[in-house]
Amino acid sequence: LVLNFVLAESALELVPRELAGARAVVADSKRRGKPPMEILLDRSFHHSAMGKLKDSEKRGRPDLVHVGLLSVTGTPLYLDGKVRVYVHTWPDMVVELAEKTRIPKNYLRFRGLMEDALGGSEGGELVKAYKSTLSDLIRRRVRPDEVTAFSIQGETAKLEDVGMQVAAEKNPCLIVGGFPHGHFSPTTLGVADRLVRVDERPLEAHIVAARLVYEVEKATDRLND
Ligand SMILES: C[S@@+](CC[C@H](N)C(=O)[O-])C[C@H]1O[C@@H](n2cnc3c(N)ncnc32)[C@H](O)[C@@H]1O
Repeated sequence: LVLNFVLAESALELVPRELAGARAVVADSKRRGKPPMEILLDRSFHHSAMGKLKDSEKRGRPDLVHVGLLSVTGTPLYLDGKVRVYVHTWPDMVVELAEKTRIPKNYLRFRGLMEDALGGSEGGELVKAYKSTLSDLIRRRVRPDEVTAFSIQGETAKLEDVGMQVAAEKNPCLIVGGFPHGHFSPTTLGVADRLVRVDERPLEAHIVAARLVYEVEKATDRLND
């Protein structure tokens, strides 16, 4: 089993051109000593500039991506090299982690790493970023047996059962949304073979991610016994 974990439509991106001159962005850029379009869009600092941005409610939360990645990359399954992690972002970039790569726990170091990767800096063997739609990522790179996406709008299923089904596959793909509010776009829904709801309540992506990996771990152990 190799579990492909995709955080989709994630709220991780560099400041887009249309906001580069906005007051909050320029102030932040000066404070950080970096050009506006080389810093991560972050609602904590750029909220006042983000109102008119398309899909604004889904963007500018790199902290959610950080916590989501920590939850997956700390698991035994990941440490054994059995999970591939891809962050697909709202503007259709993909950040791919090399096998077993650990990401910085410190947010400021994570931010620097992502700014370098998304800005096209060379030398990032552990983390590489490239332009790709979610469907190209799935079709050309991941090529999974089956794609299961998680959403409160999906059909109710027990996480344990999902874990059992997924663990029985060779190259499954799980998609969790890397955004704070809203739902998957029609494009994302289009790549999913099934859409699953695992709780009555909306949960944080990192909780869904960590529990999913744990269920797959337990089911894998059971299959191997
Ligand atoms: C903070 S939520 C996004 C907000 C959205 N209102 C929602 O609950 O789906 C982040 C991601 O966690 C996953 N998620 C959250 N609650 C879920 C649930 N009850 N069942 C399945 N997936 C869930 C989904 O993949 C979602 O895109």
